[in-house]
Amino acid sequence: MDKSTVVCRCEEVNIDEIETAIKFGAETFDDIKRITRCGMGPCQSKVCLTPVRKIIHNYTGKQLNEIRPSRMRIPLKVVRMGALAGKKESAQIASVFGESVEEGESTDE
Ligand code: FES
Repeated sequence: MDKSTVVCRCEEVNIDEIETAIKFGAETFDDIKRITRCGMGPCQSKVCLTPVRKIIHNYTGKQLNEIRPSRMRIPLKVVRMGALAGKKESAQIASVFGESVEEGESTDE
């Protein structure tokens, strides 16, 4: 595969940039993410995680199961786009457990 092949379409990171990061000591997907921004795009590494792990495997000889996947972070809470835009009827906040509460309303019992 050509070294200029883009692996992370969101951040336009190619194979050469990933291999350079590995040369400078990157060992995990998160290391490469910090150096190149690969995986920081809108898809949050859904597209580029697997190919990057394969590049690390090919370059270092590490087994794929030894290469840790990216550290995922979930949103603290779901917020409707309407609420962000200031629409009052969208001010309900859905919790990660699927419940819906009014903003400011306590869920403690
Ligand atoms: S393809 Fe890499 S973050 Fe989307």
